[in-house]
Amino acid sequence: MKIFIDTANIDEIKEVASWGILDGVTTNPTLIAREKRNFADLVKEIHTIVDGPISAEVISLEASGMVEEARKLSKIGRNIAIKIPLTEEGLKATKVLSQERIMTNMTLCFSPAQALLAAKAGATFISPFIGRLDDISHEGLELVRAIKQIYANYAYKTQIIVASIRHPLHVVEAAKIGADIATVPFNVLKKLMKHPLTDIGIDRFLQDWQKLSDKEKAF
Ligand code: E4P
Repeated sequence: MKIFIDTANIDEIKEVASWGILDGVTTNPTLIAREKRNFADLVKEIHTIVDGPISAEVISLEASGMVEEARKLSKIGRNIAIKIPLTEEGLKATKVLSQERIMTNMTLCFSPAQALLAAKAGATFISPFIGRLDDISHEGLELVRAIKQIYANYAYKTQIIVASIRHPLHVVEAAKIGADIATVPFNVLKKLMKHPLTDIGIDRFLQDWQKLSDKEKAF
């Protein structure tokens, strides 16, 4: 499974890129607003750090405006994926952009029906928001299972980005289902790495190592 980071924060992106496990980045207007910087400049800087897909979202609600914004954003680089909301206008824009070979990420997906239409419109990526479904007592991961099955039934090429991830088990379950990608907030990526027994094990090994003489330690 590919791992994207769900942030627009340059320091977080640089840190996770340095771990050697980062395959891409997703942003949204809320994440961009947190950084208090010019949108295009921020996306351009992310583009200098990450080779994989970088999602940047359109603001227009009409297809023509979405396409116009997408064409501008896609000039930043071929790896910019245009994030488009799952509406009728969004479908129209996605169809046009897929014909222009511009990557699209259909976002705010909350139902298998929406995911089916996104694939038919030629979306490169679909983003089911599992945490926001869990928040209203719906099983977010069930949506991912349903999309996986539908796409397999018809060999759709649209890749599933599991989004709105809240904790490490969301990532593990997404991988068990066979999702293509999980987009993970920085704090959850840090938690994925952590296990208390790893820390205890390192401490114990170092304590035992210190019991050796300098001659015994030499290598
Ligand atoms: C994904 O592309 C979205 O940016 C993100 O996962 C939304 O997460 P949230 O529900 O925590 O805002």
